[in-house]
Amino acid sequence: MNLELIGKTALISGSTKGIGFAIASQLAAEGAQVIVNGRSDSAVNSALQQIRKAVPKAEVEGFAGDPATTKATEELLKLFPAVDILVNNLGIYEPKPFDKTSDEDWRHVFEVNVLSGVRLSRAYVSEMKQRDWGRIIFISSESAISTPKEMIHYGMTKTAQLAVSRGLAEYCGGTGVTVNSILPGPLILPGEIHDTLVQEFAGILLHLEAVEGSDDAELCSSSECLARARELAKSGLEDARRMLLNLRPKSLEGSTLPDALRQLAEGFSCDCTITCTFCHAGHMRGLPVVIQDELYRVAQEAPSNVRKHSRATSASLSLGYGPAAIVLKIKDNGQGFAMIKHQAAGHGYGLTTMRERAQRLGGKIEIETWPGAGTEVRITAPLAGSIQMERSNQ
Ligand SMILES: Nc1ncnc2c1ncn2[C@@H]1O[C@H](COP(=O)(O)OP(=O)(O)OP(=O)(O)O)[C@@H](O)[C@H]1O
Ligand SMILES: [Mg+2]
Repeated sequence: MNLELIGKTALISGSTKGIGFAIASQLAAEGAQVIVNGRSDSAVNSALQQIRKAVPKAEVEGFAGDPATTKATEELLKLFPAVDILVNNLGIYEPKPFDKTSDEDWRHVFEVNVLSGVRLSRAYVSEMKQRDWGRIIFISSESAISTPKEMIHYGMTKTAQLAVSRGLAEYCGGTGVTVNSILPGPLILPGEIHDTLVQEFAGILLHLEAVEGSDDAELCSSSECLARARELAKSGLEDARRMLLNLRPKSLEGSTLPDALRQLAEGFSCDCTITCTFCHAGHMRGLPVVIQDELYRVAQEAPSNVRKHSRATSASLSLGYGPAAIVLKIKDNGQGFAMIKHQAAGHGYGLTTMRERAQRLGGKIEIETWPGAGTEVRITAPLAGSIQMERSNQ
């Protein structure tokens, strides 16, 4: 494709992951000078690295800051006073029952999803009109016309983006500046599939194999295995249906992160010969469900790796709190990563997805592994600040 973008500068808000990242990579491959934006330096640097690796000639720069705030937008404008292409991709979402969605929730999602795009468009449109060339694109969603009942406030912002872009298109009428909205449909990221369906199928297989290998004397444990396999099959089916309905896999729904982690550790000890303990130090206060859910998904993969790869006899899960961060640790006394052997095709999503989830929370993942003496996976996520889940993952 030649989109004739050489010499054009493109800014994509919220572009370290998902659709934003895909747009940034593609525009860089087309020869545009791309500005990647994310909230943290680490997320921006990792995105820049990936783009440069895929497109060695890419002209990419980064801006770490949150365009949902006036301060960061001012800094951004100082660094990049003019762009030719503006993609308003930044967005957050959080499924929340309507009767539990506060005024603050409504304001916040509006501020991030609508006002960030309005602010950037306002800053760049006059210059575009003067040069008689510009492209402003709002990444809305099909939720704009089909409001999801699970997050009406999010749907409202997507409809509002249509109104803004329609009006702005009229405002730019007769010039070389075009304004459009894109309404992506369902998009399930590989990480979501890995952490739900792949895990569930693997669990079913494990339990069915255990039944196959058992003799008559073990009939009792066989029926437990079958019951567990049935539970996993039901949960997998539900996750698959939710994905078809364009919903995220079900979250912790009702249960808190510590409770869910305790159950995870107990279930793990029952499912395999590795004893797993859970330790919770401190009090969890008002951690948004979305963050709890992400941390739970990270926590799920680590024990699954312990079971598959570690040859450990014991493991532990622990949740603790620093002054401004939540720390989740998963430790085993197994063989450690004896330096990762060649991955079978289709494998190796686990660690990548864990890292992506940690970054999405503005946090990090650290892995310490000692050959023959086990592995510790540590996830640290800041408690303060808003979460900005990739909008493409809604
Ligand atoms: N606790 C652990 N002990 C020993 N090795 C581990 C441990 N966790 C991960 N590994 C090593 O790291 C590799 C990568 O893990 P990752 O979760 O990314 O992929 P996978 O488990 O092999 O496949 P997938 O998760 O996609 O089904 C594993 O294949 C294994 O070699
Ligand atoms: Mg794995």
